[in-house]
Amino acid sequence: MKRLLRIDASANPSSSVSRELADQFESNWKQNNPAGEVYYRDLSIEPPNHLSPQILAAMFSPEPTVEQQALLTKSVELIEELKSADTVLVATPMYNFGIPSTLKSYFDHIARAGLTFQYTEQGPQGLIEGINAVAIVSSGGDYRQPPLDSMNFVDGYLKTIFGFMGIEDVTLIHAAGLAMGEEQAKKAKQEASEAIQKYFKTIEETLFRW
Ligand SMILES: Cc1cc2nc3c(=O)[nH]c(=O)nc-3n(C[C@H](O)[C@H](O)[C@H](O)COP(=O)(O)O)c2cc1C
Repeated sequence: MKRLLRIDASANPSSSVSRELADQFESNWKQNNPAGEVYYRDLSIEPPNHLSPQILAAMFSPEPTVEQQALLTKSVELIEELKSADTVLVATPMYNFGIPSTLKSYFDHIARAGLTFQYTEQGPQGLIEGINAVAIVSSGGDYRQPPLDSMNFVDGYLKTIFGFMGIEDVTLIHAAGLAMGEEQAKKAKQEASEAIQKYFKTIEETLFRW
């Protein structure tokens, strides 16, 4: 059975563009995978804790005590959930040029040596296999082209952190320029919606070839 892990990071519960596009993605995914299962995380409602001295010590302890194991429960749960997915969908706004801090906390809990990556003589090696990631990124401005691309700390970060854990197949879908006037906002949503349709069309074509 196929599994989709959907993670929403927008703190806007009602008129969020990234959530609306993620709804479209989820609905297309369900059509393609009628027997599939969707895991859902809303980081605005249940944000993982910021790393504390206690959590950090537990993460790096060679033999965690019972108390330390309890502190790592969330991290272990999030890692197992991610590893059991086939596709992870992250729907995120750009906040202050980067990802929301809740999503950063999520990655702080899942990027763990020995579990999702390891250091080798050749450098770091990701330990997650067989998963692809899709990130729907909404932003008020449009930072996809120079010179503004140097202010975009979302796209590169998402590709890097997923790749670091072994998830090299990362598709970025942008709804960019949502605060640049009504016409641009409409165009941005339309482009993102078409990119989602294209994503599923490509999957169908690949399956057909097999
Ligand atoms: C706290 C906050 C910070 C933001 N920072 C940026 C930013 O740095 N660059 C930008 O282009 N848009 C920024 N925006 C605009 C959001 O990226 C934009 O409204 C986006 O649509 C929000 O996603 P959502 O509709 O899914 O909630 C910010 C919005 C908020 C609420």
